[in-house]
Amino acid sequence: MTTDDVAGVDEQKMATFEAQDREEGREPEPVPDEVGDRNAARLRHQLGTDPGGCLVAVEGERIVGHAVALLREHLWCLPMLHVHPESQSGGIGRRLLDAALAYGKDAEAGIIMASSDPRAIRLYTTSGFVLHPGMEVSGRVRRPPPAPADIRDGDDDDFGLTAEVDRQVRGVPHGADGSDLRFIRDLGSRFAVLDRGGDRGYVLWRDGRVVILAATTDAAACELLRHFFVAAGDDDIDIWAVTGAQQWAILTAYDAGLVLKPGGALLTRGRLGPMAPYLASGLYL
Ligand SMILES: CC(C)(COP(=O)(O)OP(=O)(O)OC[C@H]1O[C@@H](n2cnc3c(N)ncnc32)[C@H](O)[C@@H]1OP(=O)(O)O)[C@@H](O)C(=O)NCCC(=O)NCCS
Repeated sequence: MTTDDVAGVDEQKMATFEAQDREEGREPEPVPDEVGDRNAARLRHQLGTDPGGCLVAVEGERIVGHAVALLREHLWCLPMLHVHPESQSGGIGRRLLDAALAYGKDAEAGIIMASSDPRAIRLYTTSGFVLHPGMEVSGRVRRPPPAPADIRDGDDDDFGLTAEVDRQVRGVPHGADGSDLRFIRDLGSRFAVLDRGGDRGYVLWRDGRVVILAATTDAAACELLRHFFVAAGDDDIDIWAVTGAQQWAILTAYDAGLVLKPGGALLTRGRLGPMAPYLASGLYL
């Protein structure tokens, strides 16, 4: 993939999402320009950090699939794997995944967040990843919790804290000195931190969606999630792939009057941290 492919990749991805919506019985909604701009900015960023992990499948002149894999220290992760609906089920997804895995062939650990597409689950579980089925948290906050006292907005000086928390929870920070998290923040996500003795952690969110949350203790994670619930107000909440390891999140969501139903999965392999308390980002894992 090169920067010249960014528009073609976005077009292919949108066609894939639309087909997926229809298959799951939803009428696709128009994608706001700002979302397209954010997707393009993210892809350019990933092309900058991981040019060898950004891959396209082409038929003639047309992009029919793409994958994005990132390497951070000994960790490989896969934020993107999509095949155009007209080209699906013909082996392109498998070939893209194999090429993305080859980019991380020496990586000792891996993380993927799966969609509900059965082909995706098959691809990942047959490539050495352990499946952790997840739930989706949705609805509106019907019982707002009291605002936790010690949480404040994060700033540039807090990316040292995020790196330390990530190392404990995930095994590897999100980029040197939290550079991936800084990028997410700069793309418009809100950022809050808790730093109180042994209770440390951070949350990034946009509208009603947790982008990522990590903490050193369940108590800290619950406070950060409550902080997000208070900030979300009347927004529709959407937290995807909450696995059984995150009981703290499940109970905190129920306390706020939210709904849980099956949705998403995490797949892991190799030398990771406990991955709890942790709400992973589909795009930065
Ligand atoms: C998931 C996706 C990337 C797979 O790519 P693809 O080219 O369609 O899939 P492939 O033809 O490579 O098949 C993948 C596996 O699923 C199996 N498969 C193919 N069609 C299938 C079907 N209709 N039902 C179940 N399994 C199927 C294949 O046998 C293959 O396994 P194998 O290699 O062990 O034989 C693609 O379908 C897609 O873009 N889906 C929508 C977006 C999405 O959910 N992406 C994943 C994000 S995590």
